[in-house]
Amino acid sequence: MRFLATILFLIPLYAEQPQEGAKGTPMEPKNLKVLKIPPAELIPTMRSYAAALGVKCDHCHMPRDFASDENPKKEIARAMIVMAQDVNGKFHDGKIHVTCYTCHRGKTAPLTAPPPATAEK
Ligand code: HEC
Ligand code: HEC
Repeated sequence: MRFLATILFLIPLYAEQPQEGAKGTPMEPKNLKVLKIPPAELIPTMRSYAAALGVKCDHCHMPRDFASDENPKKEIARAMIVMAQDVNGKFHDGKIHVTCYTCHRGKTAPLTAPPPATAEK
């Protein structure tokens, strides 16, 4: 079931990539300081952040103004992006090993110890 949900989620992401700018995708980003990705990858990347932390876009963004830095969570997120880039740079195979989800697992505050044995996985 979860696998199916993942597949169904990924198909529209792929379908959207070529026609960036359409379908409500915001225009050319104006205020990227740490992300170095093609514009078509911006929204899928943002969705991955929201999913990794279990939040909506407005956790890090001001309503209707994604370029604004007024929401302090955005600067925290920038530091996290740089941290993940640093860690991945320490592996010498050029692959991505550590993502937001690696630590966050759908929560804003990652755990530092395993949950009690009765907790859900
Ligand atoms: C965990 C925090 C976080 C979440 C959640 C998040 N974003 Fe972002 N977003 C950022 C950060 C940080 C940047 C700036 C990256 C940089 O400086 O390189 C950014 C940049 C952007 C930009 C570029 C704005 C510009 O003009 O520079 C857009 C558009 C955007 N986000 C859309 C979204 C959308 C849509 C969602 C929800 C699907 C979302 N974001 C969820 C952190 C987040
Ligand atoms: C090495 C583990 C690790 C990775 C990887 C990581 N984070 Fe975090 N993140 C943390 C920890 C730990 C905290 C909580 C810090 C605290 O409690 O002050 C946190 C907190 C945050 C917060 C503040 C949440 C809140 O609402 O208070 C944001 C936003 C965030 N991370 C975004 C990201 C994004 C985006 C990525 C991927 C680019 C990412 N993190 C990757 C460990 C990580």
